[in-house]
Amino acid sequence: MYTQNIKTDSLGVKALDEMEPKERAFQERINADDRIEPKDWMPEAYRKTLIRQISQHAHSEVVGQLPEGNWISRAPTLERKAILLAKVQDEAGHGLYLYCAAETLGATRDELLEQLHAGKAKYSSIFNYPTLTWADIGAIGWLVDGAAIMNQVPLQRCSYGPYSRAMIRVCKEESFHQRQGFDIMMKLCAGTKGQKAMAQDALNRWWWPSLMMFGPPDGESVHSAQSMAWKIKLYSNDELRQKFVDQTVPQADLLGIKVPDPDLRWNEDKGGYDFGEIDWDEFHRVLKGGGPCNRERLGARVKAWEDGAWFRDGLMAHAEKKAAAARPMAAE
Ligand SMILES: [Fe+2]
Ligand SMILES: [Fe+2]
Repeated sequence: MYTQNIKTDSLGVKALDEMEPKERAFQERINADDRIEPKDWMPEAYRKTLIRQISQHAHSEVVGQLPEGNWISRAPTLERKAILLAKVQDEAGHGLYLYCAAETLGATRDELLEQLHAGKAKYSSIFNYPTLTWADIGAIGWLVDGAAIMNQVPLQRCSYGPYSRAMIRVCKEESFHQRQGFDIMMKLCAGTKGQKAMAQDALNRWWWPSLMMFGPPDGESVHSAQSMAWKIKLYSNDELRQKFVDQTVPQADLLGIKVPDPDLRWNEDKGGYDFGEIDWDEFHRVLKGGGPCNRERLGARVKAWEDGAWFRDGLMAHAEKKAAAARPMAAE
Protein backbone atom coordinates (compact mmCIF):
# COMPACT_ATOMS: atom_id res chain seq x y z
CA MET A 1 0.00 0.00 0.00
CA TYR A 2 1.38 3.43 -0.92
CA THR A 3 0.70 6.13 1.64
CA GLN A 4 2.89 8.76 0.04
CA ASN A 5 4.13 9.53 -3.40
CA ILE A 6 7.82 9.70 -2.60
CA LYS A 7 10.16 6.98 -3.78
CA THR A 8 12.43 5.78 -1.03
CA ASP A 9 15.06 3.10 -0.86
CA SER A 10 14.57 0.13 1.44
CA LEU A 11 15.83 2.14 4.43
CA GLY A 12 13.35 5.00 4.06
CA VAL A 13 15.71 7.55 2.51
CA LYS A 14 14.45 9.78 -0.32
CA ALA A 15 15.82 8.89 -3.78
CA LEU A 16 17.89 11.45 -5.72
CA ASP A 17 15.42 11.84 -8.58
CA GLU A 18 12.64 12.73 -6.12
CA MET A 19 14.55 15.63 -4.58
CA GLU A 20 14.19 19.36 -5.26
CA PRO A 21 17.14 20.65 -7.34
CA LYS A 22 18.86 22.29 -4.34
CA GLU A 23 18.59 19.22 -2.16
CA ARG A 24 19.69 17.00 -5.01
CA ALA A 25 22.79 19.12 -5.65
CA PHE A 26 23.54 18.94 -1.92
CA GLN A 27 23.20 15.15 -1.83
CA GLU A 28 25.32 14.80 -4.97
CA ARG A 29 28.12 16.76 -3.32
CA ILE A 30 27.93 14.40 -0.35
CA ASN A 31 27.93 11.38 -2.64
CA ALA A 32 31.08 12.76 -4.30
CA ASP A 33 32.76 13.01 -0.85
CA ASP A 34 32.75 16.79 -0.94
CA ARG A 35 32.65 18.63 2.43
CA ILE A 36 29.70 20.83 3.36
CA GLU A 37 30.80 24.13 4.91
CA PRO A 38 28.85 26.42 7.30
CA LYS A 39 27.73 28.94 4.67
CA ASP A 40 26.61 26.32 2.14
CA TRP A 41 22.94 25.57 1.65
CA MET A 42 21.82 22.50 3.60
CA PRO A 43 18.46 20.89 4.36
CA GLU A 44 17.03 21.97 7.72
CA ALA A 45 16.91 18.36 8.89
CA TYR A 46 20.63 17.91 8.15
CA ARG A 47 21.40 21.04 10.20
CA LYS A 48 19.19 19.91 13.10
CA THR A 49 20.51 16.36 13.12
CA LEU A 50 24.09 17.61 13.14
CA ILE A 51 23.43 20.11 15.94
CA ARG A 52 21.96 17.27 17.99
CA GLN A 53 24.81 14.87 17.19
CA ILE A 54 27.65 17.37 17.70
CA SER A 55 26.19 18.85 20.88
CA GLN A 56 25.61 15.39 22.39
CA HIS A 57 29.20 14.64 21.53
CA ALA A 58 30.37 17.92 23.14
CA HIS A 59 28.33 17.26 26.29
CA SER A 60 29.83 13.75 26.51
CA GLU A 61 33.37 15.15 26.40
CA VAL A 62 32.62 17.64 29.15
CA VAL A 63 30.60 15.32 31.43
CA GLY A 64 33.23 12.65 30.70
CA GLN A 65 35.78 14.65 32.69
CA LEU A 66 33.87 14.03 35.91
CA PRO A 67 34.42 10.32 36.59
CA GLU A 68 38.16 10.68 36.00
CA GLY A 69 38.47 14.08 37.65
CA ASN A 70 37.46 12.18 40.77
CA TRP A 71 40.88 10.44 40.73
CA ILE A 72 43.25 13.32 39.93
CA SER A 73 43.91 14.00 43.59
CA ARG A 74 44.28 10.28 44.34
CA ALA A 75 46.50 9.14 41.45
CA PRO A 76 49.14 6.74 42.81
CA THR A 77 52.22 8.65 41.57
CA LEU A 78 53.13 12.16 40.47
CA GLU A 79 53.65 10.88 36.92
CA ARG A 80 50.21 9.24 36.82
CA LYS A 81 48.67 12.43 38.18
CA ALA A 82 50.31 14.56 35.48
CA ILE A 83 49.17 12.16 32.74
CA LEU A 84 45.60 12.01 34.04
CA LEU A 85 45.47 15.78 34.40
CA ALA A 86 46.57 16.19 30.77
CA LYS A 87 43.99 13.65 29.64
CA VAL A 88 41.13 15.32 31.48
CA GLN A 89 42.20 18.71 30.09
CA ASP A 90 42.18 17.20 26.59
CA GLU A 91 38.54 16.21 27.13
CA ALA A 92 37.67 19.81 28.03
CA GLY A 93 39.37 20.87 24.79
CA HIS A 94 37.35 18.32 22.81
CA GLY A 95 34.18 19.77 24.30
CA LEU A 96 35.25 23.26 23.21
CA TYR A 97 36.06 22.30 19.59
CA LEU A 98 32.73 20.55 19.36
CA TYR A 99 30.67 23.39 20.82
CA CYS A 100 32.40 25.65 18.26
CA ALA A 101 31.50 23.22 15.46
CA ALA A 102 27.86 23.24 16.63
CA GLU A 103 27.91 27.05 16.70
CA THR A 104 28.83 27.14 12.99
CA LEU A 105 25.39 25.59 12.39
CA GLY A 106 23.61 28.47 14.10
CA ALA A 107 23.14 27.05 17.60
CA THR A 108 24.41 29.19 20.47
CA ARG A 109 26.54 27.75 23.21
CA ASP A 110 24.18 29.16 25.82
CA GLU A 111 21.20 27.30 24.41
CA LEU A 112 23.16 24.04 24.13
CA LEU A 113 24.33 24.29 27.73
CA GLU A 114 20.86 25.27 28.86
CA GLN A 115 19.52 22.04 27.31
CA LEU A 116 22.21 20.02 29.08
CA HIS A 117 21.60 21.65 32.45
CA ALA A 118 17.83 21.22 32.14
CA GLY A 119 18.35 17.49 31.55
CA LYS A 120 16.91 17.72 28.02
CA ALA A 121 20.12 16.95 26.09
CA LYS A 122 21.72 13.54 26.08
CA TYR A 123 25.33 12.64 26.68
CA SER A 124 27.01 9.26 26.60
CA SER A 125 25.40 7.09 29.27
CA ILE A 126 28.74 5.50 30.21
CA PHE A 127 29.63 8.55 32.28
CA ASN A 128 26.78 7.80 34.67
CA TYR A 129 28.74 4.92 36.21
CA PRO A 130 30.99 5.47 39.23
CA THR A 131 34.80 5.17 39.33
CA LEU A 132 35.38 3.06 42.42
CA THR A 133 39.09 2.22 42.21
CA TRP A 134 42.24 3.38 40.42
CA ALA A 135 41.82 0.45 38.01
CA ASP A 136 38.66 2.16 36.73
CA ILE A 137 40.89 4.91 35.33
CA GLY A 138 42.79 2.23 33.41
CA ALA A 139 39.56 0.60 32.22
CA ILE A 140 38.08 3.92 31.10
CA GLY A 141 41.12 4.84 29.02
CA TRP A 142 41.38 1.37 27.54
CA LEU A 143 37.70 0.69 26.90
CA VAL A 144 35.80 3.99 26.88
CA ASP A 145 38.38 6.00 24.96
CA GLY A 146 38.94 2.88 22.83
CA ALA A 147 35.23 2.81 21.94
CA ALA A 148 35.28 6.58 21.35
CA ILE A 149 38.12 6.12 18.81
CA MET A 150 36.12 3.43 16.99
CA ASN A 151 33.26 5.92 16.65
CA GLN A 152 35.34 8.97 15.85
CA VAL A 153 37.95 7.75 13.37
CA PRO A 154 35.31 7.35 10.61
CA LEU A 155 33.88 10.79 11.51
CA GLN A 156 37.14 12.36 10.27
CA ARG A 157 35.62 11.68 6.84
CA CYS A 158 32.09 12.87 7.66
CA SER A 159 30.38 15.29 5.30
CA TYR A 160 30.33 18.37 7.54
CA GLY A 161 33.68 20.20 7.28
CA PRO A 162 34.04 21.71 10.77
CA TYR A 163 33.04 18.44 12.45
CA SER A 164 35.35 16.31 10.32
CA ARG A 165 38.30 18.63 10.97
CA ALA A 166 37.64 18.71 14.74
CA MET A 167 37.71 14.90 14.70
CA ILE A 168 41.23 14.78 13.24
CA ARG A 169 42.77 16.49 16.27
CA VAL A 170 40.43 14.78 18.72
CA CYS A 171 41.39 11.32 17.41
CA LYS A 172 45.10 11.98 17.85
CA GLU A 173 44.48 12.81 21.49
CA GLU A 174 42.07 9.89 21.98
CA SER A 175 44.74 7.43 20.97
CA PHE A 176 47.02 8.82 23.69
CA HIS A 177 44.10 8.39 26.13
CA GLN A 178 43.57 4.80 25.10
CA ARG A 179 47.24 3.97 25.48
CA GLN A 180 47.54 5.57 28.90
CA GLY A 181 44.55 3.49 30.04
CA PHE A 182 46.01 0.29 28.65
CA ASP A 183 49.33 1.14 30.29
CA ILE A 184 47.62 1.41 33.70
CA MET A 185 45.97 -1.97 33.09
CA MET A 186 49.31 -3.55 32.07
CA LYS A 187 50.96 -2.29 35.23
CA LEU A 188 48.15 -3.59 37.45
CA CYS A 189 48.00 -6.95 35.69
CA ALA A 190 51.74 -7.41 36.12
CA GLY A 191 51.50 -6.42 39.79
CA THR A 192 50.32 -8.21 42.93
CA LYS A 193 47.37 -10.59 43.03
CA GLY A 194 45.30 -7.83 44.60
CA GLN A 195 46.19 -5.38 41.81
CA LYS A 196 45.29 -7.89 39.12
CA ALA A 197 41.99 -8.57 40.87
CA MET A 198 41.30 -4.83 40.81
CA ALA A 199 41.94 -4.76 37.05
CA GLN A 200 39.60 -7.73 36.55
CA ASP A 201 36.91 -6.10 38.66
CA ALA A 202 37.16 -2.90 36.61
CA LEU A 203 36.87 -4.86 33.37
CA ASN A 204 33.81 -6.67 34.77
CA ARG A 205 32.07 -3.38 35.51
CA TRP A 206 33.06 -1.40 32.40
CA TRP A 207 32.79 -4.05 29.68
CA TRP A 208 29.05 -4.04 29.09
CA PRO A 209 28.54 -0.27 29.41
CA SER A 210 31.37 0.12 26.85
CA LEU A 211 29.49 -2.07 24.36
CA MET A 212 26.39 0.07 24.98
CA MET A 213 28.35 3.17 23.91
CA PHE A 214 27.74 2.24 20.27
CA GLY A 215 24.02 2.80 20.76
CA PRO A 216 20.99 0.57 20.23
CA PRO A 217 21.05 -2.35 17.79
CA ASP A 218 20.76 -1.40 14.11
CA GLY A 219 17.14 -2.51 13.93
CA GLU A 220 16.13 -0.02 16.63
CA SER A 221 18.40 2.85 15.73
CA VAL A 222 16.02 5.65 14.73
CA HIS A 223 18.21 8.09 12.80
CA SER A 224 20.64 5.68 11.19
CA ALA A 225 19.57 5.34 7.55
CA GLN A 226 19.26 9.06 6.86
CA SER A 227 22.45 9.85 8.79
CA MET A 228 24.33 7.29 6.71
CA ALA A 229 22.99 8.79 3.47
CA TRP A 230 24.23 12.18 4.71
CA LYS A 231 27.58 10.67 5.72
CA ILE A 232 27.39 11.95 9.25
CA LYS A 233 27.41 8.33 10.31
CA LEU A 234 29.68 6.03 8.32
CA TYR A 235 29.20 2.64 9.94
CA SER A 236 26.22 1.18 11.73
CA ASN A 237 26.13 0.77 15.52
CA ASP A 238 26.41 -3.01 15.29
CA GLU A 239 29.32 -2.87 12.83
CA LEU A 240 31.31 -0.59 15.13
CA ARG A 241 30.45 -2.68 18.20
CA GLN A 242 31.69 -5.81 16.43
CA LYS A 243 34.95 -4.08 15.46
CA PHE A 244 35.42 -2.98 19.06
CA VAL A 245 34.91 -6.49 20.45
CA ASP A 246 37.27 -7.97 17.85
CA GLN A 247 39.95 -5.45 18.71
CA THR A 248 39.56 -5.56 22.48
CA VAL A 249 39.26 -9.26 23.33
CA PRO A 250 42.88 -10.05 22.27
CA GLN A 251 44.02 -7.12 24.42
CA ALA A 252 42.25 -8.62 27.45
CA ASP A 253 44.00 -11.92 26.64
CA LEU A 254 47.33 -10.13 26.58
CA LEU A 255 46.57 -8.62 29.99
CA GLY A 256 45.59 -12.04 31.30
CA ILE A 257 42.13 -10.95 32.43
CA LYS A 258 38.76 -12.28 31.31
CA VAL A 259 35.99 -10.50 29.43
CA PRO A 260 32.86 -11.08 31.57
CA ASP A 261 30.80 -12.80 28.89
CA PRO A 262 30.16 -16.57 28.99
CA ASP A 263 28.87 -16.48 25.40
CA LEU A 264 31.99 -14.91 23.96
CA ARG A 265 33.64 -17.13 21.36
CA TRP A 266 35.60 -16.84 18.14
CA ASN A 267 33.50 -17.46 15.05
CA GLU A 268 35.76 -18.72 12.28
CA ASP A 269 33.12 -18.20 9.56
CA LYS A 270 32.58 -14.53 10.20
CA GLY A 271 36.19 -13.91 11.25
CA GLY A 272 35.04 -12.20 14.45
CA TYR A 273 33.75 -12.91 17.93
CA ASP A 274 30.20 -13.86 18.80
CA PHE A 275 29.16 -12.24 22.05
CA GLY A 276 26.29 -12.34 24.52
CA GLU A 277 23.10 -10.31 24.66
CA ILE A 278 23.46 -6.72 25.89
CA ASP A 279 21.10 -5.66 28.68
CA TRP A 280 19.17 -3.02 26.74
CA ASP A 281 16.83 -2.38 29.66
CA GLU A 282 19.82 -1.15 31.63
CA PHE A 283 20.91 1.01 28.68
CA HIS A 284 17.49 2.71 28.42
CA ARG A 285 17.20 3.08 32.19
CA VAL A 286 20.57 4.85 32.45
CA LEU A 287 19.82 6.99 29.39
CA LYS A 288 16.55 8.13 30.98
CA GLY A 289 18.36 9.28 34.12
CA GLY A 290 18.21 6.12 36.24
CA GLY A 291 21.94 5.29 36.29
CA PRO A 292 24.00 5.26 39.49
CA CYS A 293 25.46 8.77 38.96
CA ASN A 294 23.11 10.70 36.63
CA ARG A 295 22.01 13.17 39.31
CA GLU A 296 25.52 13.67 40.60
CA ARG A 297 26.96 14.31 37.11
CA LEU A 298 24.31 16.81 36.09
CA GLY A 299 24.45 18.45 39.52
CA ALA A 300 28.22 18.93 39.15
CA ARG A 301 27.79 20.56 35.72
CA VAL A 302 25.05 22.91 36.90
CA LYS A 303 27.11 23.90 39.94
CA ALA A 304 30.19 24.58 37.77
CA TRP A 305 28.05 26.77 35.49
CA GLU A 306 26.58 28.72 38.40
CA ASP A 307 29.92 29.08 40.18
CA GLY A 308 31.46 30.44 36.98
CA ALA A 309 28.86 33.22 36.54
CA TRP A 310 31.08 35.89 38.16
CA PHE A 311 33.90 35.03 35.77
CA ARG A 312 31.72 35.15 32.65
CA ASP A 313 30.27 38.48 33.84
CA GLY A 314 33.80 39.80 34.38
CA LEU A 315 34.86 38.77 30.87
CA MET A 316 31.82 40.47 29.35
CA ALA A 317 32.42 43.66 31.34
CA HIS A 318 36.08 43.68 30.29
CA ALA A 319 35.17 43.13 26.62
CA GLU A 320 32.63 45.94 26.81
CA LYS A 321 35.19 48.30 28.38
CA LYS A 322 37.73 47.53 25.65
CA ALA A 323 35.14 48.02 22.93
CA ALA A 324 34.11 51.36 24.43
CA ALA A 325 37.74 52.49 24.59
CA ALA A 326 38.21 51.58 20.92
CA ARG A 327 35.18 53.64 19.83
CA PRO A 328 36.08 57.10 18.45
CA MET A 329 35.62 59.79 21.13
CA ALA A 330 32.61 62.06 20.72
CA ALA A 331 33.55 65.52 19.44
CA GLU A 332 34.25 67.90 22.34
FE1 LIG B 1 37.55 13.07 24.12
FE1 LIG C 1 39.41 10.71 25.53
